[in-house]
Amino acid sequence: MATHAASGHEKIETSNFLMIVLILLTVAVGGLVEIVPLFFQRSTTQPVEGLKPYNALQLAGRDVYIREGCYNCHSQMIRPFRAETLRYGPFSVAGEFVYDHPFQWGSKRTGPDLHRVGGKYSDEWHRIHLNNPRDVVPESNMPAYPWLTSATVDAAGMAPRMKALRTVGVPYTDDEIAKAADDVKGKTEMEALIAYLQVLGTARK
Ligand code: HEC
Repeated sequence: MATHAASGHEKIETSNFLMIVLILLTVAVGGLVEIVPLFFQRSTTQPVEGLKPYNALQLAGRDVYIREGCYNCHSQMIRPFRAETLRYGPFSVAGEFVYDHPFQWGSKRTGPDLHRVGGKYSDEWHRIHLNNPRDVVPESNMPAYPWLTSATVDAAGMAPRMKALRTVGVPYTDDEIAKAADDVKGKTEMEALIAYLQVLGTARK
């Protein structure tokens, strides 16, 4: 029996083809076992208590955040390490991102993590900082975004965006979608972006 098993092994180890196929199979099964349950677990699919979908203004701000590429320098994921939680606050959990399509986790940190920046500064601080970061942080190498003050939010575009998000599970009501355009009418992209920044990470106390 023992010699039989050994010769079977030898057959695999001396065949490139068998070795490659069996390695691929093992890795595929191992990967599926780790990944598939995540699509069904409560902790990764259910919103944390108190999490609300972005309102129309915050959602418009989130689109500005993505358009301007803020994610190239800022992550939105506080890892469960002491150095991170001391600096940024409680570590991020999956349930805080169920309404984010797509999420903005990232790993590139030229600037600080922004997941819990909501409420850290006043709206006025953000306005000055986004207009020219050097006015409040002299050593900052973050770019200035002065045009956000004069650009207005695309009000008519909000309802279709919210409807699209509803199809992927964000629970917007008909009422919220109907008054989305009015909610953002005349608002600047600066106001929208700040509204978005101020709500980040605030669902979990
Ligand atoms: C080239 C990299 C870069 C880009 C792009 C960038 N930032 Fe920054 N950001 C930084 C750096 C560096 C800092 C730290 C210095 C400072 O506060 O200005 C920072 C700081 C911040 C802070 C303060 C965070 C804190 O906790 O003190 C906020 C808020 C912020 N950025 C928002 C944004 C937004 C919104 C955008 C997109 C419109 C953006 N950043 C784009 C590099 C960047």
